[in-house]
Amino acid sequence: MNKKLPISSLFTVLLLLCVFLPLSIQIINDDIKDYKTQLLTAVKQDKDWLISIRRQIHEHPELRFQEHKTSGLIRHELDKLNISYKYPIAKTGVVADIGTGLPPFVALRADMDALPLQELVEWEHKSKRDGLMHGCGHDAHTTMLLGAAKLLNQRKDKLKGTVRLLFQPAEEGGAGASHMIKEGVLGGVEAIFGMHVDLSIPTGTIATLPGPMLAAVCFFVARIEGKGGHAAKPHASVDPVLAASSIILALQQLISRELDPLHSQVLSVTFVKGGDAFNVIPPYVELGGTLRSFTTEGLIRLQQRVKEVVEGQAAVHRCKGSVDMKEDEYPPYPATINDETLNKHVDQVGAMLLGPPGVKLSKKVMAGEDFAFYQEVIPGVMFGVGIRNEDIGSIHSPHSPYFYLDEDVLPIGAALHTAIAETYLSEHQLPS
Ligand code: NI
Repeated sequence: MNKKLPISSLFTVLLLLCVFLPLSIQIINDDIKDYKTQLLTAVKQDKDWLISIRRQIHEHPELRFQEHKTSGLIRHELDKLNISYKYPIAKTGVVADIGTGLPPFVALRADMDALPLQELVEWEHKSKRDGLMHGCGHDAHTTMLLGAAKLLNQRKDKLKGTVRLLFQPAEEGGAGASHMIKEGVLGGVEAIFGMHVDLSIPTGTIATLPGPMLAAVCFFVARIEGKGGHAAKPHASVDPVLAASSIILALQQLISRELDPLHSQVLSVTFVKGGDAFNVIPPYVELGGTLRSFTTEGLIRLQQRVKEVVEGQAAVHRCKGSVDMKEDEYPPYPATINDETLNKHVDQVGAMLLGPPGVKLSKKVMAGEDFAFYQEVIPGVMFGVGIRNEDIGSIHSPHSPYFYLDEDVLPIGAALHTAIAETYLSEHQLPS
């Protein structure tokens, strides 16, 4: 039955809306203000603890799949917080659930590994291990996730689902994320968030980008076999050095002549190794480098063309060419592609905690990130958390031996992780 509402009733409804709608918006705004204050007050009290954790990890950097001490520290802190966890996952990984234990499940991820780099920053908490350094901020990522563990645990009765914390090994070349996935860490999880320190934006800000953000990446080694001999008698040998030179030039044409100019790819040959005498033509030459593309399909095609060009150009010079993509040692990473809806969520939470000017638009970079493996399975967002601070020298790019972190990022990251997960659960809670 379709009864028309009398004009007077309509007027009453409108009047009620006029009175109560601003009131309910005010209540929501008050709730948000209250939530923000609670979170920032709690994390402020944790700042010294966060700094001490980060410095311990920084002093003892560990390479991929060897993060035993780091993993031990994480477990020790989780024990102290009375948070249960699974270990070992992917050799050194740790996975903890906080909340109802029921859906929805949302995951937060931090990487734990360091770089084979000699730290050249002279400070009290410099790396104590020669040739190893946390030069990419993964010590901060791990610390910020531990900070979130503490905050979420304090708020566990308020959570409308479960937050899964992934402390992951081997981001630097080891594809630790893919090993974690194989061990089932994404079971039941519907969204995942990760952050990386970002030197291009000031501390207290974040940078996000919907869609493709980082490249699909792989490495390659080409071997060109000829026939060695005396340099005075080139006709009696088959020269792999000349073949390698042609190959390097021909490879450069793959991007300039075969790729749509509106797409992005990189092909860099970064080493050539041949003989070591002035008067000997060597029997073989090896060269290698990296391939990058903003689409995973683009990378697969580029890999195929590199093989064809190396083999073909080697044959032109009577050599035998072969290519090894080193996939066992360095598994190719897919492109990091941020889910648009989840990216909006990060923007909103960032604006709530840091103020709207605190949310910047991220730039695309041809670097790779194994977070992309998670995004192949479920929607996710990787975003940058600012650490630029000229006053204290936090100005050197990641992977530099002078990399120096503004530790003010630690409480900010912990609060961001917490709010992103907690509000995600509130917005996606299942009807009781
Ligand atoms: Ni990194």
